[in-house]
Amino acid sequence: MTDTISIAVICGSLRQGSFNAAIAREFSTLAPTGISFRPLDGMESIPHYNADIQSQGCPAIVRDWAEIIRSSDAVVFVTPEYNYSIPGVLKNALDWLSRLSPPPFSGKPVAIQTASVGMLGGARAQYHLRQVLLYLDAFVLNKPEIMIADAASKISAQGELTDETTRRLIAEQLAALQGLIQRVAAS
Ligand SMILES: Cc1cc2nc3c(=O)[nH]c(=O)nc-3n(C[C@H](O)[C@H](O)[C@H](O)COP(=O)(O)O)c2cc1C
Repeated sequence: MTDTISIAVICGSLRQGSFNAAIAREFSTLAPTGISFRPLDGMESIPHYNADIQSQGCPAIVRDWAEIIRSSDAVVFVTPEYNYSIPGVLKNALDWLSRLSPPPFSGKPVAIQTASVGMLGGARAQYHLRQVLLYLDAFVLNKPEIMIADAASKISAQGELTDETTRRLIAEQLAALQGLIQRVAAS
């Protein structure tokens, strides 16, 4: 595999000590060779979606994110579950991105990971995110699903993902995403 695959990464947590952000930082050590990751930073500065703001022009950060997504081969979401759904900041970012043309997610391979301190690992948020991505016309990878339960026991105080089973699953999902990228490109 040549070094040509780039994957944008969207983390749904703004928290400095975020377990989800810690997992995202591990991707380059777990992915097949030849993949680079592009974290989409600055979600905290995206304003609440408001059509009046949009009519004056989309915020620069939203346009920047859209361009990074369009020019990436795929997107990985790694997000907590809030109240059985996706965090509001993530939904807000997606609402903004949905207003841009050309649509950044259309035909884009996407993988989803959730990490939570709870025992279901954010499973319920996954299906809400899938529903939104359906409207955005993304191609969401089905398997393997990654729902990291009891995240506090799997990530060290230094932010290292220490759980070997989770590391292997993430490596498998990133390899599967690489396969989806190739299938979409060939279709
Ligand atoms: C507003 C709020 C709602 C939450 N709701 C859920 C939930 O529905 N399910 C769950 O498993 N954990 C829930 N949690 C706990 C999160 O799993 C936990 O805070 C996790 O560490 C957040 O991810 P992060 O470490 O990446 O910030 C909630 C936390 C907050 C702050």
